[in-house]
Amino acid sequence: MIRVENLHKSFDGNQVLKGVSFEVEPGEVVALVGGSGTGKSVLLKHIAGLLEPDKGRVLVDGKEVARLKGRELLKLRERLGFLFQGGALFDSMTVYENVAFPLKEKTKLKEPEIRKRVRQELENVGLLGSEEKYPSQISGGMVKRAALARALIQEPEIMLFDEPTTGLDPVIGHAILELIHNCHKRLSFTGIIVTHEIPKIFAYVNRVLMLHKGELRADATPEELLSSEDPVIRAFVRG
Ligand SMILES: Nc1ncnc2c1ncn2[C@@H]1O[C@H](COP(=O)(O)OP(=O)(O)O)[C@@H](O)[C@H]1O
Ligand SMILES: [Mg+2]
Repeated sequence: MIRVENLHKSFDGNQVLKGVSFEVEPGEVVALVGGSGTGKSVLLKHIAGLLEPDKGRVLVDGKEVARLKGRELLKLRERLGFLFQGGALFDSMTVYENVAFPLKEKTKLKEPEIRKRVRQELENVGLLGSEEKYPSQISGGMVKRAALARALIQEPEIMLFDEPTTGLDPVIGHAILELIHNCHKRLSFTGIIVTHEIPKIFAYVNRVLMLHKGELRADATPEELLSSEDPVIRAFVRG
């Protein structure tokens, strides 16, 4: 379970998060929405242990992320997959090498097992046949699929997706959301999807968190958001 309690974060006097609290239940996937620059990526980075709160805390399965050290922090990193905004792959590595990278870095698996797992993961995201291509030789949608395969290869219990469809054309973006949905059915991870895909995302989640001016303006079902009388929420839902 992910639990965020009264999270505060500033950068050089710029107050980005001003006391954000919410929970995500085991196996649940929620959407995190909000205008550009409202701290969505900053929030995810606290959950992954990449940033430390100024005040408040983030708990994963009851353990405070900012206090994890050494082996415990490594263990969290193994259990957690992060699809970064931009979904960057390593340009100098092939698709195969990119997807194999976490297994080579973080496990002691032997080459034949790695090969099998990478092929399976590439098949799951529809990229078999593109193993030897470099990122510059494939489309933006394929780069995202490969980044997704790399984030999922260790079968994480927690998945953080930071704008998985931004910059893709709508049809391909929709295919990526379907892919995430299917991966969730297979792996049952606990997840947060940062997205601007409103209302499309409403078909995939039961709960939406909305950040506005450093605070959580909504923690609601899609239906509640759509019928909300809050002018900020209305403006956002109507784009
Ligand atoms: N490492 C950092 N150092 C300084 N400012 C940062 C840093 N990371 C994010 N910010 C600032 O925090 C604010 C929120 O950023 P971000 O979380 O990336 O927004 P978004 O909701 O678009 O993902 C922005 O004003 C950004 O400039
Ligand atoms: Mg962001």
